[in-house]
Amino acid sequence: MRIFQPFEDKPGFWTWSAEARLLLTALDDAVVRLPEPQLVNLSGGIPFDHTYTLDPGMLSDAILRSRLDEFAAALRQFHTDSGRTMFSGLLDKGVSSQALHYLLAFTRHCIAVGEHDSFAALYAPLGKTGPDVGEFRLHADLYDSRSLLNIFDHVATDGTGESTFLPVSDFFEILDQTSSMDESARDQIKALFSPTTRGDRFMDFKQLVHGEQNPWYEDLWNAMSATQETMPLVRGQGYLLDDRLWLHGRTAPSGGVPAWRSHRLTFRPRN
Ligand SMILES: [Fe+2]
Repeated sequence: MRIFQPFEDKPGFWTWSAEARLLLTALDDAVVRLPEPQLVNLSGGIPFDHTYTLDPGMLSDAILRSRLDEFAAALRQFHTDSGRTMFSGLLDKGVSSQALHYLLAFTRHCIAVGEHDSFAALYAPLGKTGPDVGEFRLHADLYDSRSLLNIFDHVATDGTGESTFLPVSDFFEILDQTSSMDESARDQIKALFSPTTRGDRFMDFKQLVHGEQNPWYEDLWNAMSATQETMPLVRGQGYLLDDRLWLHGRTAPSGGVPAWRSHRLTFRPRN
């Protein structure tokens, strides 16, 4: 199944294929007879263990069930050379937020079952939301699953709350050039990105890179923010990136962060 295709209206961006649109339209019709996707804790509340999920076995239509399996398999295999794919037109008159929500909840279930590992895919609500929430500085999520799909939905319409990006290769160069940083901190940060390092490492990243007590805090952030790429992304736009190759973040949106600012699925790719 081909799920994405280059978007003619916006060079450099991708969008749903005709096949994926058909699947989303079919879901829109089918889900009126289904319960809401469940929000579950996978292991009793350790950080980063919750996910929306829904078993496609609930669908009576066998063809639709097999299309969902095909979608999940195709998503796991999809990649572009840079390790980052930009999307546009993923939500519009033909694709509702509800259809996308069910698609991602089903996809999460399919990947977890296929991998025999409930952590192989997480479709989690956003961490901090609300009127007082703002900037989220460049970071890597550093979950075990390295693919991150982020599709924006309820975003500020005044251009605030841009997405920010920095290739990890550029980040490593900045680390090398930050003279106020000691060698061991530099090595610790780089090791967080190693494929042999396991477990969630986000809090280590946050402390080492953005901890205000670090002597290198200001120099490092000034260099990162001067180099980052910023992109305002509207409803239906988003990205799929390799979390070990790209840092991501956001500038402060006006009015804070709504709960459904974006739909975020992290998953283990199949290479
Ligand atoms: Fe993130």
